[in-house]
Amino acid sequence: MPPTDKAWKGRFTEPTDAFVEAFTASVGFDQRLYRHDIRGSIAHAHMLAAVGIIQESEAALIAEGLSTIEKDIDAGHFTWSVGREDVHMNIEAALIERIGEVGKKLHTARSRNDQVATAVRLYLREGLDGLVGQLQRLGSVLLMLAEREAETIMPGFTHLQVAQPVTLGHHLLAWFEMFLRDAGRLKDARARLNVMPLGAGALAGTSFPIDRHMTAQALGFTRPTENSLDAVSDRDFVIEFTAAAALIMVHLSRIAEELVLWSTPQFGFIELADGFCTGSSIMPQKKNPDVPELLRGKSGRVIGHLTALLVLMKGQPLAYNKDNQEDKEPLFDTLDTVRDSLRALTELLPATTFHRKRMREEARRGYPTATDLADYLVRRGLPFRDAHEAAGRAVRLAIDRGVDLAELPLSELKTCSVLIEADIFPVLTLEGSLAARDHLGGTAPRQVHEAVARGRTRLADLEARSA
Ligand code: ARG
Repeated sequence: MPPTDKAWKGRFTEPTDAFVEAFTASVGFDQRLYRHDIRGSIAHAHMLAAVGIIQESEAALIAEGLSTIEKDIDAGHFTWSVGREDVHMNIEAALIERIGEVGKKLHTARSRNDQVATAVRLYLREGLDGLVGQLQRLGSVLLMLAEREAETIMPGFTHLQVAQPVTLGHHLLAWFEMFLRDAGRLKDARARLNVMPLGAGALAGTSFPIDRHMTAQALGFTRPTENSLDAVSDRDFVIEFTAAAALIMVHLSRIAEELVLWSTPQFGFIELADGFCTGSSIMPQKKNPDVPELLRGKSGRVIGHLTALLVLMKGQPLAYNKDNQEDKEPLFDTLDTVRDSLRALTELLPATTFHRKRMREEARRGYPTATDLADYLVRRGLPFRDAHEAAGRAVRLAIDRGVDLAELPLSELKTCSVLIEADIFPVLTLEGSLAARDHLGGTAPRQVHEAVARGRTRLADLEARSA
């Protein structure tokens, strides 16, 4: 095959080395920017016409040509050429093929450097909005489950040792908080992402009298970028997004770890739906929690992408460098991975069976109401440190007798502290312990219901912020 005619061929006397052509090409992965590249080009063409740089009729031809190219790509009727390097030059060359000489005017007053920066921002903005929507759906699922499980008692852990009883609803609401913060972080990143680089040209701006506000508005950006050198070289928005994405994956990974633990026979807290598990090729009894394990595992690649992007940028002098082409694969894979992972958890949770009896049983073991006994003694006037010691003696007694704190007779409890009276027993029950933590942010069922109601408003507020 003869080498492809390059858009920049004028300065060159020899053709590009075949390996170098493949090595420098990005069309294999950046073709997925085509809709956003075309959108940017159409806005640019209309602006060129509006300020009189090209004719209105020429802009119309260009826009029309680009739209048919978009339709062909949508339909899979477009042949990408590695010789044409990237998505931008493939589309421009196709445009010239289709509409002739007029197509050559599209690239007036712009460069691929401001073009790609614009396309990536548009692409990421759309992807980011999709993830915020997914986080909202996951948030609603968690609120629904938290409400349903507001009275369900489970052990709360510190150091993975039974610590104090909590409600399952309260635990689910802790997950909700993580994802609500994630959605907020994405929104914050979106605000900084949403500025328009076109007009920065290759690096120094353009000698044409363009209207940057017009293209910014047409493309839904809040304003044009301030500095042309920064505009073509800045990839902070990619890094910021990927950092927020890495944190989403860390949250998913932590939750996945809990699901893996809870689904073991040793915990027995949950049963994952068959559709979300696989068996073993050799051990017939096995039902493996593949989906949570993959959620946990996939966090690694997104954290890796964040590192890759930071390192990609750290040595770059102003302004554009070809290094920047390497931002795309980590970004695209991050978007794909987070999208699929959020979907997986959102579908898995409502299909999960929670074994309330088992949770309650485990909550009883490990003397989780010992703190309540100490608090009781404090209310009777004992300093907390002494109360802690007295409650510790009671736990010791209960361990020796092989019973629960609430099963010790009053006479035995009194040997730990004379301040203990018959009204201690409701305090030592799991229900009593939970109900006592009845303040904003506490685990009492009443508080869980109120937190769910507030959670609904907070989700709706997030919606309003996205407008
Ligand atoms: N494919 C390139 C990228 O992704 C587009 C910009 C190329 N600019 C250049 N001066 N070679 O960054």
